[in-house]
Amino acid sequence: MKKLCFAVLAMMMMACQPQPQTVQEEVNNEVNPVIENILTRRSVRKYQPQAVNRDTMSLVMKCGINAPNAINRQAWEVRVVDNPEILNGLTEIYKKQNPEMAEREKDARNMFRDAPTVAFIAYDTTFSYAPVDCALLAENMMLSAWSMGIGSVCMGGPVPFLKSDAAAEIMKKLGFSENYELLLTIGFGYPAEAPAARPRDDSKARFVD
Ligand SMILES: Cc1cc2nc3c(=O)[nH]c(=O)nc-3n(C[C@H](O)[C@H](O)[C@H](O)COP(=O)(O)O)c2cc1C
Repeated sequence: MKKLCFAVLAMMMMACQPQPQTVQEEVNNEVNPVIENILTRRSVRKYQPQAVNRDTMSLVMKCGINAPNAINRQAWEVRVVDNPEILNGLTEIYKKQNPEMAEREKDARNMFRDAPTVAFIAYDTTFSYAPVDCALLAENMMLSAWSMGIGSVCMGGPVPFLKSDAAAEIMKKLGFSENYELLLTIGFGYPAEAPAARPRDDSKARFVD
């Protein structure tokens, strides 16, 4: 009787474990929504004007901070901004400093590829792994967003300007802690384009026998 109870318990425990997929299932993206989500994500640079729903962005932030990170130090800070005053304010200053960009992109709503919601990601400058942690957080945010139909674009381009004196007054509003520095921005929004995949060099990742 005791043996039977153990056998039933073992079977129940096995049923709770994720079961390994067959090789065919593993390579078939259609049956694996996680892989499909990864392979269909593209940087979106045209957005509808309305900001992303804040409940959705809260979930995106939650996915971000659940990324793996060195010794769980969580050496990141994220500020999500959907206030057009802040995004447009920064854009106005940027355009004044870069008249050629202002001319080239005169129809642009803002300097963040027109994304109506922007995440500013800062890293702890006293911790060497912090930029890696932030990159993993960023990818979790972008992939979770995409899984809910929200487009995104990671942007390093605006960072030097955002760290400059010209942007300091507005950037102070984000309230990053001492020792934290801006690393990346990510634009989020409801996509107004469906870009094709940019080619990847498969030889960059290979087996070694
Ligand atoms: C660290 C980093 C910085 C980037 N900076 C910019 C940027 O400033 N502006 C931009 O339009 N895209 C930027 N991108 C997006 C890349 O151009 C894009 O991910 C790459 O071309 C591959 O295209 P895909 O994301 O559609 O697969 C950046 C991406 C990363 C990871």
